[in-house]
Amino acid sequence: MKAAFIEQYGEPDVLKYGDLPDPVAGPGEVVIDVVAASVNGADWKVRVGQYKQSKFPFALGRDFSGVVSAVGEGVTDLKVGDAVFGVCEAGQEGAYAEKIAVKAAIVAKKPEGLSHVDAAALALTGLTALSAIEDTLKLKPGEKILIQGGAGGVAGFAIQAAKHIGAHVVTTTSAANQAYVRGLGADEVIDYNAADFTKVVSGCDAVFDTVGGDVAQKSFAVLKPGGRAAFIASGAQAPKPDRGDVSALRPPVGRARRHLERIAELFEIGAVRAPEIKLYRLSEAADAHRVSEARHFRGKLVFKIR
Ligand SMILES: NC(=O)c1ccc[n+]([C@@H]2O[C@H](COP(=O)([O-])OP(=O)(O)OC[C@H]3O[C@@H](n4cnc5c(N)ncnc54)[C@H](OP(=O)(O)O)[C@@H]3O)[C@@H](O)[C@H]2O)c1
Repeated sequence: MKAAFIEQYGEPDVLKYGDLPDPVAGPGEVVIDVVAASVNGADWKVRVGQYKQSKFPFALGRDFSGVVSAVGEGVTDLKVGDAVFGVCEAGQEGAYAEKIAVKAAIVAKKPEGLSHVDAAALALTGLTALSAIEDTLKLKPGEKILIQGGAGGVAGFAIQAAKHIGAHVVTTTSAANQAYVRGLGADEVIDYNAADFTKVVSGCDAVFDTVGGDVAQKSFAVLKPGGRAAFIASGAQAPKPDRGDVSALRPPVGRARRHLERIAELFEIGAVRAPEIKLYRLSEAADAHRVSEARHFRGKLVFKIR
């Protein structure tokens, strides 16, 4: 099969396009003919060696949408020909490829009205956003939340999920993406280049940070006493709060079919729509990584593979 893979860690140019062996469905697994796979913020971090968990060569990529082409022993709930989407198990990469073998239990049927490209774009971002907004922050109707990095894939889903709950959503973005995040439902938009968010936002019940670094650390300042903040761009641990009356949480982002089914449900009822998408061919993986790593695009970058 064709794949975009690396044989060493490094700059985007280490991404090669070529042949890797076809995967085989082990017990409990399915092989999926990948139609679309998305670029996630984690992928360039894997490429530069921040995770150091795989043997070379390996294809990058953590989420996909496609069609089941082989079924392993013991799989009874999926069959060849089913259109499915999903996210690789934690620690597994490999969606930038024509085929991938994954545990059947963590993939879900793709709704008919959702294209493969949109399903791939919503998979890991949706799962992460739901893990943060619904499971970790347990956001409630009427609460005020600051979502940092509104134009990104995860944050864009989170804005829509928070609005669906009935929360008041404040988000940060550059000037170029203000209309985009308003279109996703944000009630208040802060251009982080024009204003210091800690000076113009206060009294939040919750913060969801997808930016990391100083932005994450400074986010505690906008919380009301008893407020809670969730962080996904600060590594495996949430940053330590500099005040004692708030909580800092790290969403587990577990891989589970139920999250994917929740994404499908939210899409089908019209609560979330796909983000803005820029399409790439697998052979253009290095270009896609340059854009992703620069961190100032909007929505998602998606490989259309077949
Ligand atoms: N399992 C997990 O824990 C998990 C899962 C998914 C993602 N993540 C992490 O979550 C983070 C977000 O990932 P992602 O794929 O959604 O998007 P991303 O590629 O990291 O973010 C791109 C967006 O960030 C915005 N941005 C950059 N700097 C900003 C700033 N200072 N303030 C506000 N917005 C800013 C950009 O908008 P502008 O151009 O408007 O600046 C751009 O739209 C990444 O660090 C990723 O590794 C973790």
